[in-house]
Amino acid sequence: MSTNKTNRTTGQDAVALLTADHKAVKALFKQFEALSRQDDADEEKAALVARICDEISVHAQVEEEIFYPAVREAIDDDDLMDEADVEHASAKELIAQLESMSPGDDHYDAKVTVLGEQIDHHVEEEQNEMFAKARKADVDMDALGEQIAARKAELGAELGLDDDAPATAQAPSSKSPNRARKAPAARK
Ligand SMILES: [Fe+2]
Ligand SMILES: [Fe+2]
Repeated sequence: MSTNKTNRTTGQDAVALLTADHKAVKALFKQFEALSRQDDADEEKAALVARICDEISVHAQVEEEIFYPAVREAIDDDDLMDEADVEHASAKELIAQLESMSPGDDHYDAKVTVLGEQIDHHVEEEQNEMFAKARKADVDMDALGEQIAARKAELGAELGLDDDAPATAQAPSSKSPNRARKAPAARK
């Protein structure tokens, strides 16, 4: 049954997993907001924005590869799904720009802020409309959750993301010259 909220591998169905991602990314944008009020935070900003871009990219990719196709087929609302596609494309464009920029560049902070606002809007539509419709249509959220978790782990490993800790990711200390994605390997 798809109403079960857990599965063996991750303990999270697709909606729980994607919603946790949304929360984690929102927390990272909040960190950026705080940093953007500080002077001399360029290194931390760069690391944090790299992390934000990676987290969103992985999340968008698993949605596009696994979640969206299943939901599109189940809910019969192409307009809603098309809008989500366009919002992803627009986020990716801003991410591509940010990835070739540095803190201090013209409009850098504004681009991060606008990306955050666009993601907020997108997340609201997913959580309030898409996920609800998918649940009603009886999409198998446990099976999708398992696939998404596996794919996320794969993509996260490729990027060197710490898969377990996106929600609590701290802005790196100003002493660290490394980008956030190069987190130390030994955490256990
Ligand atoms: Fe999305
Ligand atoms: Fe999402």
